[in-house]
Amino acid sequence: MRRIILTVGVMVWMFTGMVMASGPLGKKWESNKNCEACHQEISKKWETSRHSNSHFSKNDLFKKSLEYIVRKNPTMILDEVKVECAQCHNPRLAKRDVSNEEKVGLLLEDDQTKKHFHAILENKTMKNGINCMVCHNIDEIHLDKKKGSGGMNSVKFGPQGTMFGPFADAVSPYHKTEQRAHFVGDKPTLCFVCHYSQKNAHGLEVYATGKEYDQFKTGEEGCKECHMSKKRKGVASNFAPAGEKPKARMMRAHRFASVDNSNILNDFVDVKGTTDGDKFVITLKNRAPHKIPTGYGLRKIILKVTFLDKNDKVLAKKRYVLGTKWVDEKGKETIPHLAVKVAKDTRMDGKSTNAYRFPIPDGAVYAKYSFSYRLIPEGLAKELGITDPFFLREYTFSEQRVHL
Ligand code: HEC
Ligand code: HEC
Ligand code: HEC
Ligand code: HEC
Ligand code: HEC
Repeated sequence: MRRIILTVGVMVWMFTGMVMASGPLGKKWESNKNCEACHQEISKKWETSRHSNSHFSKNDLFKKSLEYIVRKNPTMILDEVKVECAQCHNPRLAKRDVSNEEKVGLLLEDDQTKKHFHAILENKTMKNGINCMVCHNIDEIHLDKKKGSGGMNSVKFGPQGTMFGPFADAVSPYHKTEQRAHFVGDKPTLCFVCHYSQKNAHGLEVYATGKEYDQFKTGEEGCKECHMSKKRKGVASNFAPAGEKPKARMMRAHRFASVDNSNILNDFVDVKGTTDGDKFVITLKNRAPHKIPTGYGLRKIILKVTFLDKNDKVLAKKRYVLGTKWVDEKGKETIPHLAVKVAKDTRMDGKSTNAYRFPIPDGAVYAKYSFSYRLIPEGLAKELGITDPFFLREYTFSEQRVHL
């Protein structure tokens, strides 16, 4: 009798284990710190990426956007919006929908409901962002391009102890390993889980990097060559069984290069200033297979020209901004997630070259020109109440001075 009860106990345990495959992660898999001892370099690189800051507790812009959305829409509930956005920003969330009962609980500020949401939204795994277990536990990808990226709704996670990766012959003492096609080669399939496209409540597309790629790509170059790195020799794990050396592998850097942790704009966008009659011309060549700026709709690339006379006195300052302007029903500038219309779009297409012309004032002898980037415009940063200098500063990529 005792034995039967035990067996049932084990079966119940196994069953919950199976259900938990897509539910909350066990202690062994909570954060990148569980992997760091053996995947030191990968883990340290990943920590420099925006993927490691995707939780609202670590991202002032994301946090203030959530609060702003609720402030502008009194019918929305903060925790409900957090659950919706977590699909891509924190896909290991142990919840897909908010029930009517829970909505009532949140509106009434019921203690139990509040505690429950706090527990699922603010645990260690959630705060760790788009971490190792988000990507490497993805068993299957089912992306419907017509609907756009679904984040956790576009994937099937595997059992928690299995790491899917690019190798067919990896052996680890900590976890099982299995090869999956979405880690091999150059295809962008894995990135499209979140970066293909997404529409806001008004049907406007707020991110469309993958869609742009499908429009502008000239080969199947994917995303990893630029945003991770070219394949190079290294070791996937610094661990090796006693008496052996770690295997030499061809691998890429886990940097997910963005404007703040890399030189990606200088590496793939060529900038040149020349004179053409009475015009100063800045030519930009975008070698990326997507628009620039791409991704989150408030990014701006700023071209600035200052004309100086022979004594270096400033004669004129000009600027041109590449980016998108989003407006609400009243035509007032707002964030992409609340916009009903794109009022202006001056971004550059993927794989294209554009010339920007600035009239040269009389007496000008020198021109100084620069190429910089803003994550969010100053006006909206103020409106949202952003205080983190990371989002307030301008990232300058190149500055030149030429004789006209
Ligand atoms: C599970 C969803 C998800 C997957 C899969 C994913 N990303 Fe991301 N990625 C995000 C989110 C969300 C952000 C924004 C994080 C933030 O800034 O808080 C982001 C940010 C980035 C950024 C930085 C952009 C910036 O704002 O500066 C780059 C670059 C990037 N991802 C590249 C990739 C590449 C390349 C892949 C495929 C190898 C990939 N991502 C896979 C969700 C994902
Ligand atoms: C946004 C998705 C994403 C995240 C997050 C991520 N990886 Fe990866 N990882 C990849 C991709 C894609 C590859 C395959 C790269 C290639 O083409 O060789 C890879 C490859 C690997 C490899 C094989 C060696 C190599 O570089 O090819 C290991 C080991 C690995 N990742 C461990 C980790 C660990 C540990 C973390 C967390 C610190 C992590 N990964 C976070 C996408 C991700
Ligand atoms: C005790 C050491 C150890 C720990 C801890 C560890 N790994 Fe590994 N992992 C390895 C070894 C060894 C390999 C195989 C390396 C090789 O074959 O080149 C490996 C391989 C991998 C691969 C490649 C699998 C494939 O088939 O391509 C991924 C992905 C991976 N680990 C992710 C993780 C993640 C995520 C964590 C943390 C949750 C983690 N590992 C924790 C030792 C470890
Ligand atoms: C030839 C190199 C190259 C390739 C290939 C490439 N990118 Fe980029 N990517 C760039 C450059 C340069 C930037 C910086 C300019 C910008 O922000 O638009 C960038 C910026 C980004 C950003 C960040 C925008 C932000 O908000 O800071 C994301 C996200 C991104 N790329 C995703 C992707 C994805 C997904 C793919 C594959 C479908 C891809 N990229 C392929 C060069 C590349
Ligand atoms: C379909 C996947 C997806 C969903 C759902 C999603 N996002 Fe994002 N989000 C992304 C990706 C991918 C990026 C990175 C794009 C980039 O910066 O180029 C991003 C970036 C952002 C950024 C910029 C963060 C930074 O560090 O600069 C903000 C703010 C943001 N999202 C807000 C939201 C809000 C608010 C919601 C919910 C209403 C939401 N997102 C839902 C995929 C998603």
